[in-house]
This record gives sequence, structure tokens and C-alpha cells, in this order.
Amino acid sequence: MSCKGKLLVVEDEKIALKNLLHVLKKEGYEVTGVASGAAALAQIEGQVFDVVLTDLKMEKVDGMQVLKKCRERSAETEVIVITGYATPESAVEAMKQGAFYYIAKPFRLDEVRKVVGEALEKTRLKRENQQLRAQIDGYEGRVKIITQDQSMLRLLEMARQVAPTDCNVLITGESGTGKELFARYLHYNSTRADGPFLAVNCGAFSEQLLANELFGHEKGAFTGALALKKGLIETAEGGTLFLDEVTEMPTAMQVKLLRVIQEREVLRLGGTQAVKADARYIAATNRDMDEMTRGGSFRQDLYFRLNVVNLHIPPLRDRNGDVALLSYFFLKKFAALMKKEVVEISPDALSVLENYDFPGNVRELENVIERGVAINTGGIIELAHLPDNLRELSARSYRKKDGRISSLEEQEQAYIRWVLNEAGGNQTLAAQLLGINRVSLWRKLKTYESL
Ligand SMILES: Nc1ncnc2c1ncn2[C@@H]1O[C@H](COP(=O)(O)OP(=O)(O)OP(=O)(O)O)[C@@H](O)[C@H]1O
Ligand SMILES: [Mg+2]
Repeated sequence: MSCKGKLLVVEDEKIALKNLLHVLKKEGYEVTGVASGAAALAQIEGQVFDVVLTDLKMEKVDGMQVLKKCRERSAETEVIVITGYATPESAVEAMKQGAFYYIAKPFRLDEVRKVVGEALEKTRLKRENQQLRAQIDGYEGRVKIITQDQSMLRLLEMARQVAPTDCNVLITGESGTGKELFARYLHYNSTRADGPFLAVNCGAFSEQLLANELFGHEKGAFTGALALKKGLIETAEGGTLFLDEVTEMPTAMQVKLLRVIQEREVLRLGGTQAVKADARYIAATNRDMDEMTRGGSFRQDLYFRLNVVNLHIPPLRDRNGDVALLSYFFLKKFAALMKKEVVEISPDALSVLENYDFPGNVRELENVIERGVAINTGGIIELAHLPDNLRELSARSYRKKDGRISSLEEQEQAYIRWVLNEAGGNQTLAAQLLGINRVSLWRKLKTYESL
């Protein structure tokens, strides 16, 4: 299964067939070619292809029948229709019947290459989606961290290893990257999984209230303390206490917490007798704790106690492939929750998502998809279903600040500069990426300079 994709090409014109086979094989695909619709049906019966490219107009069995057969056989196969005659009706009909795309003859080979690549990507995502769903079904109630990014996978492996050790863990990362999710993951993969997982946001309470939450109080400890109240530290016995935004904890309380962690016992407010407190501590912050300890706003000794192991979660924009993967994951989730048949994300919407830098990380993406599903009526999340700030992002480059639509030349210049930048300033590479030769690139750059 190491090939890049399994393709079937159906084309009754010998030369066209030969050309297609040649160019697609060169791309590294596993390609089968047949010269008639009937032969295609036999192939489709026998195996599942990722993508089928079929001529529309053929003797006896035509492309529409090939398309229908594919639809019956496997939901995963994408069909690209090639139409020789200027018959928009038949192309429209093919799209209605579920074709992925239609290419008009005479086709350009680079267009074929591009469309096949996109179709394969769609097939791949669909498969992944199904796998995801299978995993989610199997892990009901458990924590599932979705990713395909290398550094995230390494982080997960590390989490898997420290989970059962009972070490305290410090989880760092920007807002919305999944710190709490990782904390839960650690808990549910530890020997404490049957014990409680309790979370407290150290930044959300006044000092008094936080102390009360964490340490509890004896009856009569202060006015209004009518009964004994156990604190979270005590209640987390046999389980995990998640200290969110731990840097927001007042310094006086940091000393008390340090003592609790070291002695494994806690003194309730107004109490004289310490009680056993055997929790595991997982702390999280989106601030730079190293710097904070150096600056004195966080106690170094407590920092060392909490930071036995550090898991640093990378921001979403630095992860490879996760935006698409998570988009489909959330699409499935919210479609099911809202009982809506939303099954797709249009390629241009997906591309906007992939180019956005998500300051709010996974949480922001989750909200974007939730909204997209909520306001959806047609089953596909399209550009129109994305929030304004994301859509503007995609349109911005086409419209100048004064509202004027930019000219082709301006666009070309901006694009060339962007590619050059992507190529690290390397003109040879940039020219290759642009599909032009180095001399013309150089000439263009010269004109821009003189402008
Ligand atoms: N890899 C992931 N797979 C699936 N869901 C994720 C993933 N990462 C984050 N989420 C989801 O995104 C949301 C935000 O995650 P979480 O609350 O863990 O982030 P956080 O880092 O604690 O954020 P904050 O810093 O704002 O407290 C949650 O709904 C979580 O389930
Ligand atoms: Mg959080």
C-alpha cells in the first residue's frame, strides 16, 4: 500500500489513453488503463479504485454508466469525467450524479495532474474520517487527541509514557492548544484512571475563594463556614488535580501548595490536624514560567515540583495537516450533535482554513466549524459559512486598501514575491515553483525594482 493512489483510466481514444497513462504513472500512481466502458465495469467490479478518470462519450457503455457503477460500488472512489464535446448539459449531469470534476477536451496534462491530486486528497480525507469515526466509536467517554503532526505524535508518545508514572506534569502552550485535553489524557491513562479528575482555574477566583476551593475549611473557620468543607486537594485523593493557569496563584498560596505536595497532606482553613492528600498534580499555563520564576513572580521551588516533566504543545499553525484533519473531525462531531447532514468542506473554504493562523488554536477552529455546521443548509461548508475575519483574509489580497480591485499585474507581482519568499529567496527554486525559467523571473523582478 505504499503507492500514492490507485487509478483507473477509461478512454477509447488510443493516443489520449496512452498520454494519460504515461503522465499519471510518472506521478507515481498505480494506474490501470482500459479502452472501453464495458472493460471499465469489469475492473470496477473486481477492485476498489481511489480515482477513476473516464471519457464521457463512448460506444455501448458510456462514462455515465461507469460513474454510476462507481457510486454503487464504493463511496470512496472519486470520478473525474472527461468530456470531448462542448456539452455542458452532460457535464452538469455528471456533476449531479456525483462526479468530482469534469475536464473538457482537449485537456492540458497539468490540469489532469492537478485534478487527480485533489481527488486523491479527498479520498484520503474520507478514509481518514472513517478511521476517525471508528476510533471515536471505540473510545467512547475516553479522551481522544486528534493529530497527524510529527511533533504532536512525539508529544503524545511522551504523554503515554509519563501517564502511568505518577510524576507531576507541567503542560505549556498557547491558549486553546489542548492543555486540558492532555491533562485528561494523562489521567485516563494512569493508574488513577478510576479516581477523580478535578480541575481548578487558579486565575478565576479571588485569593480567599481559591484558598477555600483548594484547601477546604473546618466548621466555623470563618463567618459563614457553617459546616466542614473538603477542598479539591483532599477530594482528588486517588485521582488527579489539574491546576489550570497555575501562574495566577498568589505567592502566599504557592508556599502552602508546595508544602501540600511535599508532605502529601493538607491543612483545611481553620484546621489544626493535617489530613492525607494523595493527589497527582498536573499544572498548565500559557505563560513563560521560566521567565516568571526568574522575575520572582512564581516560586522557583514550586516550579521545580510541578515541572518534573514538561509537555509543550505546539500551536495549531505549526502543525502539519492538523487543520484539515481536525476540521473534518469537528464537522462529524457537530453534524451528529445537531443532527444535520453536513458532510463536506469545500476546497476553497478548506484552503482558507489552512492558511489562517488561528491565534485561538484548536478551540477557535472548533468554534468556526460548529458555527459553519449550525448555519449550514446545503450539506457543505463553503466560504460563505466561515466567519467574516477568515473570509476577508481570502479576499483581502484581491482588493486594495482603497477598495479597488487589484490588477492582474499587481497580483502577479505580489504572488511572485510570495513564492520567492517561500523559496527562501532562492531564485532558481522560485522559478521552478512558478514554472517559468530563471531569466524571465529575473527580468520580472528587475521591472518591479524599477517601478
Ligand atoms: N488534538 C485535539 N483533538 C481533538 N480535540 C482537541 C484537540 N486539541 C484541542 N481540542 C479541543 O479544543 C478545545 C480546547 O482545548 P483545551 O481546553 O484542552 O485547550 P487549553 O489549552 O486548555 O486552552 P486554554 O489555554 O484556553 O485553557 C477543547 O474542546 C478540546 O476538546
Ligand atoms: Mg484550558
